[in-house]
Amino acid sequence: MKLSVHFTPVGLSSNMIAGRPVLVVDILRASTTIVAALANGGRAVLPAASAEDALKLAQNLERDDVLLAGERRLEKIPGFALGNSPLEMTPETVGGKTLVMATTNGTPALLAAEAGRPVIIGAAVNFTAAAEAAARAFEEAGELTILCAGREKQFALEDAYAAGRFAQAIVPGKLRRRLEMNDAAIAARELVRRYGTKWTSALNASAAARDLKALGFRADLKFAAEPDRYEVVPILNDRRVTLPERG
Ligand code: MLT
Repeated sequence: MKLSVHFTPVGLSSNMIAGRPVLVVDILRASTTIVAALANGGRAVLPAASAEDALKLAQNLERDDVLLAGERRLEKIPGFALGNSPLEMTPETVGGKTLVMATTNGTPALLAAEAGRPVIIGAAVNFTAAAEAAARAFEEAGELTILCAGREKQFALEDAYAAGRFAQAIVPGKLRRRLEMNDAAIAARELVRRYGTKWTSALNASAAARDLKALGFRADLKFAAEPDRYEVVPILNDRRVTLPERG
């Protein structure tokens, strides 16, 4: 059994994960926002590499059913309907809609994970459900990669802590004798010892949290740190993130 954590998509190639399970986390905020959008009735989220890519993707879809969403430097992209705040993803706004979404780190991380099977989207807000799905995939495949979006190709504390929380939930207690972990997985688990099990402690200590607060997104931070608001498990397949039970 092999458990690998990647603190950023840098260094992760498609052939390392092709056909194998991957859990993607961007706690602040893309994975939290995607979970909220789908839990609140969004039909699908299509990750885009950039704002331009999002516009191109949206052009090929039925205009009435599509919402452009995303951020640059944490703020809504000019001309887009929605930013990257989970609080914007209300049933009234996203119900029945397909979101084409471009964020700085989160959607590129999803695209980097595309070759995986399944590609699970995890956050604190769907922690237990995502951890259970990842644990099942891990048992079946004998391996799991946890991919952190990170920030601008750098380590991000909140994602690394989340990776540690997922790693602990998936392989609880004493490590199995035949479990192989990479160094990042060991370090991520250590972060859980450092910050404990309250998501707010690790999230609040991060640079992303400081930047979000400075721009008035304190409520997003609070939302992202509250575990198990939702029981949904978004899956990326064929460049669409959906809830598989809804198809
Ligand atoms: C990202 O993808 O970089 C983020 O989700 C940034 C954010 O909007 O908080």
